[in-house]
Amino acid sequence: MGCQMNVYDSGQILHRLAPIGYEATTDLTVADLIIVNTCAIRSKAEQKAFSFLGRLAALKEQNPKLIVAIGGCVAQQEGQKILSRMPHVDLVFGTHAIRRLPQLLQRVAAKRCRLVDVEMAQSLSPDDFTTGPHISSDVSAFVTIMRGCDNYCTYCVVPYVRGRESSRSPEEILSEIRQLAAQGVREVTLLGQNVNSYGLKEGHCTFAQLLAKINDVDGLARIRFTTSHPKDLSEELVECFGRIEKLCPHIHLPVQSGSDSVLKRMNRHYGHQHYLKKVRHLRQVRPDIAITSDIIVGFPGETNEDFEATLRLIEQVGFDGLFAFVYSDRPNAPAVRFDQKVGESLKKERLRRVLECQEQFNTKRCNQMVGRVYSVLVDGLSKHLSQTLEDTSSEESFPDAQWSGRTGTNKIVHFLHENPGQEKNQMLTGRILEIMIERAMPHSLWGRIFNTPLVSEGKGEDNYAA
Ligand code: SAH
Ligand code: SF4
Ligand code: F3S
Repeated sequence: MGCQMNVYDSGQILHRLAPIGYEATTDLTVADLIIVNTCAIRSKAEQKAFSFLGRLAALKEQNPKLIVAIGGCVAQQEGQKILSRMPHVDLVFGTHAIRRLPQLLQRVAAKRCRLVDVEMAQSLSPDDFTTGPHISSDVSAFVTIMRGCDNYCTYCVVPYVRGRESSRSPEEILSEIRQLAAQGVREVTLLGQNVNSYGLKEGHCTFAQLLAKINDVDGLARIRFTTSHPKDLSEELVECFGRIEKLCPHIHLPVQSGSDSVLKRMNRHYGHQHYLKKVRHLRQVRPDIAITSDIIVGFPGETNEDFEATLRLIEQVGFDGLFAFVYSDRPNAPAVRFDQKVGESLKKERLRRVLECQEQFNTKRCNQMVGRVYSVLVDGLSKHLSQTLEDTSSEESFPDAQWSGRTGTNKIVHFLHENPGQEKNQMLTGRILEIMIERAMPHSLWGRIFNTPLVSEGKGEDNYAA
């Protein structure tokens, strides 16, 4: 239910359960085991987890053998309390307990006991990760390179639910990525709460050096990463956007606020001028780079002037995309004790104004793309269409199919091409095509394959000649 790390962890969970006989199903009513992998970042996310868990009580009544387990950040945060609150939950396992999950489940199943494991380790061990099939499309995969966070932004629960920052070794990361590339994955997204401090504690290489090593992996076409903290975004990393060929021209650089006094109380260690300087440097190195960000409105003590400063910063930067959130009190985070809380209706009003202010840039960025050609990594058939194709016999003929993919700047592009049932060697999934953007709709871009003779799939480089 959470961020990309949570999705990656779900893949790890699946991979660990296969050897003890479990396989995935999407039908809750036939499941022997239901695992809810939760997020605690805002109170809404936590409520969503509990309301889903609550609904599982009825299933447990019908099938007393069913095991209900809760993992992830809410499990880590609430621990034992969940067992008292929810009598139908059998197992609570925290963010560091994934590698012990098979043993925990076997104990629960054999003894019909209820267990809690929320123990946290100081550093990562190679056992924390298995390299195996990921939950993701075949084209793109997440790879966790670090765990935890040491930044203690005052609104944030992550340091408490994910523990101290700790990095995996470059060898382990490379071996996982090589394996993924060999399975046909074309794009990896490297995950860490603050990738800029990758390896510093452990004395591994720098993050920029890690990118250079990953760039050499055969078969891989694209590298992305998230997230970078503005206080630590080094010149070395900015320069990577100019010299690491497979690194996509997109950076997610959460700013949170445009007001220096709010940033200070958030414990972010930078001011708005520092942020704007980083943006200028990024655009100087890579003029086509897409910059996206996160904003929190209604942080305790945020005045109208503070809020206006945030709107000003959004105007000054002209982001390619923005995730905006209403501040949410978290029980473990220090800001819960800050006074001058902003009222719910004012927070909502500020959220509306941020989104409205950003909308002009969303439209502008998309319109600017019309008439230009972009390299698009094809994810596959657009969802509803792949369902139709699965449901119908292959002898029927179809009109052109609707495909979708992403530009390096992470914009989703749709285009039409003949249906794949007829010409197997023209399957486009995983290929990089040159697409001319023809139309920008409010929430999508449409284009056509541009001057790209399609040839049968080979190894290595992209199969087109533009
Ligand atoms: N490590 C990343 C962020 C992870 S959390 C970083 O530092 O950028 C993702 C986003 O959730 C944050 O960037 C922030 O905008 C938002 N967020 C975190 N805690 C929040 C809270 N208590 N209330 C509202 N939004 C929050
Ligand atoms: Fe949370 Fe700040 Fe760490 Fe990001 S850097 S995970 S916002 S504490
Ligand atoms: Fe991710 Fe949510 Fe945990 S954002 S780190 S799953 S609190």
